[in-house]
Amino acid sequence: MMTDGFHSDPLYQELERLLEPFGQTHLLRTWPQLTEEQRKKLAEQIRELDLPLLQRLYEKRHQVLDVSGLLERASPPRAVRLGSDYRGIPPAEARAKGEQLLREGRVAALLVAGGQGTRLGFPHPKGMFPIGPVSGHSLFQIHIEKILARSRKAGRPIPLALMTSPATHQETVTYLENHRRFGLSADDLYIFCQGTMPSLDADTGKILLAAPDSLALSPDGHGGMLAAVIRSGTLQKLRDRGIEYIFYFQVDNPLVDILAPEVIGYHVLSGSEMSTEVVAKQSPFDKVGNLVQVDDRLCIIEYSDLPPELAEKRAPDGSLLLWAGSIGVHVINVDFLFRVADLADALPYHIAQKKVDYYDPDQGYVKPTAPNAIKFEKFIFDLIPHAKNAIAIEVDAARHFAPLKNAPGAEKDAPEHVRAQMIALHRSWLQAAGAVVEDGVPVEISPLVALDAEDLRDRIPKNWRITEPIFLSPEFISAWSSSPQTTPKTE
Ligand code: UD1
Repeated sequence: MMTDGFHSDPLYQELERLLEPFGQTHLLRTWPQLTEEQRKKLAEQIRELDLPLLQRLYEKRHQVLDVSGLLERASPPRAVRLGSDYRGIPPAEARAKGEQLLREGRVAALLVAGGQGTRLGFPHPKGMFPIGPVSGHSLFQIHIEKILARSRKAGRPIPLALMTSPATHQETVTYLENHRRFGLSADDLYIFCQGTMPSLDADTGKILLAAPDSLALSPDGHGGMLAAVIRSGTLQKLRDRGIEYIFYFQVDNPLVDILAPEVIGYHVLSGSEMSTEVVAKQSPFDKVGNLVQVDDRLCIIEYSDLPPELAEKRAPDGSLLLWAGSIGVHVINVDFLFRVADLADALPYHIAQKKVDYYDPDQGYVKPTAPNAIKFEKFIFDLIPHAKNAIAIEVDAARHFAPLKNAPGAEKDAPEHVRAQMIALHRSWLQAAGAVVEDGVPVEISPLVALDAEDLRDRIPKNWRITEPIFLSPEFISAWSSSPQTTPKTE
């Protein structure tokens, strides 16, 4: 029960004045039961809300983004096809250019790891998931070791900008510190936190509470990166240390070829401001974003927005016309990000119906069984149409795309699929280096030992027969090379 005491509380009055015009005063129903501390917390969250924006977004929720006009004109994107020249630039020249830029310290990695990873059902940030098939190493460790391996090749440190969200921030920071950042120097790690958006009740537009003293807030999508990287000062710090290009990647893919020189090289040599790694889709309905060209602009249309007749359209040679599936990896110019900074507010919000747990002052905590709420997210790839000379760069799916999306037992993209793909790739490297790997034996190679088959050549025993699970770590290699006459033991 609200008493007059609460009504005359100036803080309560201030919040009521803010919320009233937008029909959101229900957020104050828990006020009487809150401590001073809790009230401050709730007040802070309410003050941060952009209430007019939320109202506009809710009113427009049924206006589905009309992409039909776009779709009529959608054609395959300008693309560097696998192993082919692009506009007279052979892969070797692009690779050499990328390696030069890495040596000159002009490229940084940027990892987006603010998602809640609900589909995976792992109660920690996804980057902590122990994906290594033999080592049990986490996604974070694998990504960081790839950056360290590239730094060694470049002969200088390469910085990593890491985006968290309030949902993942503290646990990520603690985890990385507890593991001494897996060898990455503190000077080369820039952690910044993205913003949030509240979830709204789908039927009424009312903002949901997560608890009596807090709103149901979730990360504002990876498009929140643009505002966050600028607001936090991270982009300026990177520019101050000479960084001109950002290699952007997602946390969920342990096979991502971070800072791939050839990709960086093609991006720069083609004069592109934002390039996207794509794979050739296996089937019309692969669950990836479709990179398409409309007039002279590139853009991504999510699989859910692509009508089946267009998805199934064939080129004269029988291949899929819209063949290019985005794997969520981009090379982006720092200057471009600064130039479009004003768009941070203009990037559209995408609306999704989701199940969101909430607190109801009458019913207590509620766990809905069907979608009850709407969530708003920005996508970083909505910047692509603003970029000059944007291109697609094709990579081999078997070697570079194994996304971890779903819980064990799912049909696709579950830990067992990702691990099997890692094992198959590393087995092929070992075989190329002359080893025989017995059927069914899991193998894994640390990025600190090799980033590709070429790196492994001449580093393993001749005629090596692998009969039990093995994790090829730097320690393993150095133990073997100090006494090469003995066959390595795998413990
Ligand atoms: C995404 C792409 C899809 C692409 C696929 C490749 C979208 C909408 N779709 O699908 O085009 O083919 O990856 O795997 O992005 N993240 C944040 N903050 C957020 C939300 C997400 O940092 O607020 C991060 C996640 O931690 C993850 C990445 O963004 O690293 C991708 O997010 P996710 O929602 O898993 O994308 P998908 O829908 O699976």
